[in-house]
Amino acid sequence: MLYRTKSPVKKSKQPVLEAPKRPSPAEDLPILLKFTLIPGLKSIVLDEISKYSELKITEAGEDKVYLDFIPDFKNILAMRSITNAYITKRGAKFNPYFICNHKSIIGDLIKIVIGETKNIFKSFKLRCAGSDSKEVKEIQSYIVSTFKLRESEDADLEIYISKPSELWEISVRLTPRPLSLRSYRVANIKGGLNPTVAYAMNTYLDLSGEKCGEKSYLNVFSGSGTLLIEAGLSNPNLKLIGFDIDGKSNALAIQNIKKAGLIKQIHLKTADIYDKPHLGKFDMIVSDLPFGMQISSKENLDNLYQKFVTYCEETLNENGGLVAYTTEYRILENALISSKFEIIKTTDLVISTAVVNTYLYPRIFVCKLK
Ligand SMILES: C[S@@+](CC[C@H](N)C(=O)[O-])C[C@H]1O[C@@H](n2cnc3c(N)ncnc32)[C@H](O)[C@@H]1O
Repeated sequence: MLYRTKSPVKKSKQPVLEAPKRPSPAEDLPILLKFTLIPGLKSIVLDEISKYSELKITEAGEDKVYLDFIPDFKNILAMRSITNAYITKRGAKFNPYFICNHKSIIGDLIKIVIGETKNIFKSFKLRCAGSDSKEVKEIQSYIVSTFKLRESEDADLEIYISKPSELWEISVRLTPRPLSLRSYRVANIKGGLNPTVAYAMNTYLDLSGEKCGEKSYLNVFSGSGTLLIEAGLSNPNLKLIGFDIDGKSNALAIQNIKKAGLIKQIHLKTADIYDKPHLGKFDMIVSDLPFGMQISSKENLDNLYQKFVTYCEETLNENGGLVAYTTEYRILENALISSKFEIIKTTDLVISTAVVNTYLYPRIFVCKLK
């Protein structure tokens, strides 16, 4: 039998006609939910997710969790351990060039997020590499004309085209602001604690348990009141007291506490830890310790942390719990090791700051009296 070998095909000079666009299989990929979190808080986030039977995790990483899509976002928007919630599509082809040719992929996600709450989203920001390219500009024009949103740097609707792994991702945030920016935060101080970290610290004390009602909770170095407010939101029966040396911070904390509707539950004092304020004994003590600019130049951090530990030894009830957070964790660890406290758990976190690619590396200590 004779076989014909293939002769090289000559390239035609005729213009190639573009075939009509068919829906790409990539467009059929499932929509997912994506939650972002502070690295270190994974177990707290997984715990919170497990409270909602409708939430099914498909992949859990250190800084994000993917879940099956659900159309009702009510419980998701009430979550307190995550930084942001998005709906997302992941695919090998979802680069800006591909999305430009298949704009409905991004349009469908935006439609879901805007849904019936159209009025809360007035502006958008498309964050992706190559933002000056023709393709990205075309996608932006499509969003402006289809959804009547204006472009803004500080936008309500955050949209991302990114490649965080081997897959590209298109994500649209479910809320105009990050979930971690609580609505009660009307007044901020420099060094205010991230509310998802405050929620996590309180979780180590299991505040929501029925047994916790009526228990007393002290927040040493209370600043703008984040730990106290997160505790009050977890359990309306806790007796919550905080103190801080700075009267101005206390005044700002009052504004936040009022906004959170907890003014009857939380009491604040202006006091210096060096004066050992007499506030009684407590079942729980929680603290985000000062460092850097938050202490006066006369103060020495070793001394201050030592005073804090001694004060907690004297103020905590026998079976009580202490949870403390600081970036200066070696100093605190030294003070704890030579104290009446036993460290029963530590959690290391990675927190991004306002400066790009700059991070804080704080540690949470969970302790009980020996
Ligand atoms: C890290 S900030 C606490 C921030 C707080 N967790 C929040 O979310 O706003 C530490 C606080 O310690 C307070 N502080 C510093 N030295 C103090 C002292 N000697 N006695 C009491 N409070 C002090 C500062 O005024 C500051 O508000």
